[in-house]
Amino acid sequence: MASVPSLASNVQQRLANALSAALPEAGSADPLLRRSDRADFQANGILALAKQLKGNPRELAAKVVDALGTESDEVLREVEVSGPGFLNITVSDAAIIGTLAARAADDRLGVALTADPGTTVIDWAQPNVAKEMHVGHLRSAVIGAAMVNILEFTGEKVISRHHIGDWGTQFGMLIQYLEEHPHELDHREGSEVSGEEAMSSLDRLYKAARAHFDSDEEFKARSRDRVVALQSGDPATLAMWQRFVDESKIYFNSVFEKLDMEIADEDIVGESGYNDMLAETCRLLEESGVAVRSDGALCVFFDDIKGPDGEPTPLIVQKSNGGFGYAATDLSAIRDRVGKLGARNLIYVVDVRQSMHFKMVFETARRAGWLTDEVRAVQLAFGTVLGADGKPFKTREGKTVKLVDLLDEAVDRATAVVREKAEKVGLGEEEIVENGRYVGIGAIKYADLSTSAVRDYKFDLDQMVSLNGDTSVYLQYAYARIRSILRKAGDAKPAAHPELELHPAERALALHVDLFGEVVAEVAGTYEPHKLAAYLYQLASHLTTFYDKCQVLSSENAPELVENRLFLVELTGRTLQQGMALLGIRTPERL
Ligand code: ARG
Repeated sequence: MASVPSLASNVQQRLANALSAALPEAGSADPLLRRSDRADFQANGILALAKQLKGNPRELAAKVVDALGTESDEVLREVEVSGPGFLNITVSDAAIIGTLAARAADDRLGVALTADPGTTVIDWAQPNVAKEMHVGHLRSAVIGAAMVNILEFTGEKVISRHHIGDWGTQFGMLIQYLEEHPHELDHREGSEVSGEEAMSSLDRLYKAARAHFDSDEEFKARSRDRVVALQSGDPATLAMWQRFVDESKIYFNSVFEKLDMEIADEDIVGESGYNDMLAETCRLLEESGVAVRSDGALCVFFDDIKGPDGEPTPLIVQKSNGGFGYAATDLSAIRDRVGKLGARNLIYVVDVRQSMHFKMVFETARRAGWLTDEVRAVQLAFGTVLGADGKPFKTREGKTVKLVDLLDEAVDRATAVVREKAEKVGLGEEEIVENGRYVGIGAIKYADLSTSAVRDYKFDLDQMVSLNGDTSVYLQYAYARIRSILRKAGDAKPAAHPELELHPAERALALHVDLFGEVVAEVAGTYEPHKLAAYLYQLASHLTTFYDKCQVLSSENAPELVENRLFLVELTGRTLQQGMALLGIRTPERL
């Protein structure tokens, strides 16, 4: 399938050629093309260039126009010099519709595959075993899934890693408790365990074990021995540990399923997965001098990282008691992901509060030679989820909110919104329930994805399911309306008519549709899915203006006009649907 260059890039290229033909001394200057309200595009680059060459900008601009040779051009309809030396550029109607027709003929909407695909390992959705998931885990899952989709769509090979917290000293306590109370994790024979049941039995067990641990010195000592048994691979201990992991996975999977997300079991490689590498990782760091012993602990020091007391804060890879921590695991994971999986890009979708950890881990891995210049390692850091009051998200009693309750509430509210219009649209009960899910879960995902990840964001369900404004429901309605028009069109079929003159609202919509591929490429390179969300919102807004100004199925329209408008509407719908799918959001046919 052929990729289709956008008109913007086409015009940019022509301008760049004209610039270097008219002004060879300018080298390869950027014409700085922008979308504009006056014309289709405006190029501002000549101003800076004139300054640099000490020439008159309007004269230079006129030379560039000559070099463009617009008279016989099929793409450029008009290029005029304006203001101090801008170029206002209008492209031809035929070029707009022709370009979109080429997009429409392609399954990928003409979006290019990346020229140089590699392997990206992305670390996302990493909850902790035997613990309730919280809103932070939700963010990692939503942003991570979107990045996986976007990168895969550009042709990158993507490997997911769910670095779950499934290792560490607390398991000594849990396993010891289970050993002494063997029936606590038993479920009725043959009955399917729900996610919530799994979580509540884990929670009960955790609390009971904790109470013992805090009050019973002998139990504490037995728990410590149990950690040693776990780390040295004692089979009976490992088998019990596995029960915690399996029970937790039942719970995780129930949450991911609610989120309409696929998590493959083979991609769940938690902290325990690197256990065999930890000793070697430390040995290599110590032998190379990257890490040094300090008060018995194995540490890596950094010139620019100091604690509040002004003393350097080290990354501790091994504690003085011999135990390995979070850092040793992450360093081993880098060795695995680069060395074995062949990653050229590493992305970590993790809370911004862990930024110092990743800064130190990446720097250590560079010093050790595990990360080379060819490998890009990035923390796609996300901010805190706040309540409507602007404070970190908690229940009224100050507890952390259960993720499942939150998702259920979003779906309930969305279902109410869907139900209100259901009769008018002709939805049956089954569709109401299904759409309620798609709208509710979509609302949560979109709210997360539509602000820059690193910013904190307010979790406000009322706003999220609102039909007005920058919400997923607004986009989903835009899509459903498109589908409805196409159904109502009856015998009139979408068809491109490049010979027709376009209304300004049609041009604005069409030129925005045309930019989809560039937005996808940008987002795939910068790891900023909120830019895709912003693009889709603008797309829906252009569509609204278009409906306002241009009738699609009017009996006064000539058949070609109806067909061309249907064509535009249909392609907008496909673009909206593809973009939403990349964000992990469904687009119901009727809403
Ligand atoms: N389990 C951790 C948490 O809940 C997140 C893990 C992030 N990934 C990593 N490679 N450290 O905070």
